[in-house]
Amino acid sequence: MFSSTKVEETRIHEAYAKRQKDPRYSWFSPGHLFLIQEREREIFILLRKKGINSFDNMQFLEIGCGEGYWIRQFITWGARPQNIDAVDLLPNRVDEAKRLCPETVRVECGSATKLRYPDQAFDLVHQSTVFSSVLDYSMKKNIASEMLRVLKTHGLILWYDFHVNNPWNSDVRGVNKREIYQLFPNCRVVLRRITLAPPLVRLLAPYSRLACYCLEQLKIFNTHYLGVIQKM
Ligand SMILES: C[S@@+](CC[C@H](N)C(=O)[O-])C[C@H]1O[C@@H](n2cnc3c(N)ncnc32)[C@H](O)[C@@H]1O
Repeated sequence: MFSSTKVEETRIHEAYAKRQKDPRYSWFSPGHLFLIQEREREIFILLRKKGINSFDNMQFLEIGCGEGYWIRQFITWGARPQNIDAVDLLPNRVDEAKRLCPETVRVECGSATKLRYPDQAFDLVHQSTVFSSVLDYSMKKNIASEMLRVLKTHGLILWYDFHVNNPWNSDVRGVNKREIYQLFPNCRVVLRRITLAPPLVRLLAPYSRLACYCLEQLKIFNTHYLGVIQKM
């Protein structure tokens, strides 16, 4: 019998197979540069507030790591490659992540609905735009429970995802605040509204980073939540 999880996994495979390399995500695009640099700044504001001043000796897991961009960022910021595990559903993305990341990073192909790691193995579990790629609520719930299971008692989940729907892409769906609370019950959740709407940034950034920055500070046109989720 075909379970709803299998159906959803197949849908995700098909949705990503349609995607092409997108020039909007080039480092030479002023919009992309602005979006990533602002996100990095916000990550450190949030982590510092949570008392994290170093990644030394922290055990990391990234679920839905894609081609491993954030793994490499964490390494640049001081995480040790041998302390990093990652998992993604799509074999081609896993192969690319393996090719691009240091050999001691362990990247595996599989679903985050069923992680093979023991309970309480990680200090930091990262998810970046994975939940918005999953439309089936029960799959999202399973992923969230697995993230909590493998998280140490005093560990934290770093969350980044959009909360608005993308009218041009029906393969993704925004995850709002209420849903995040439902996915992680009995947890302390801190969310910051960041990321000025990317189409607006792509339009403005070539002319004025300052305009992008000021609009982002207003928050009303921001499309994503950056968050930290901790067990109570
Ligand atoms: C939008 S991409 C983001 C990739 C990466 N996190 C980043 O921010 O660059 C979402 C990723 O989630 C992965 N994904 C979706 N559902 C998954 C699941 N159930 N288990 C593991 N990975 C999943 C997809 O294969 C895809 O690589």
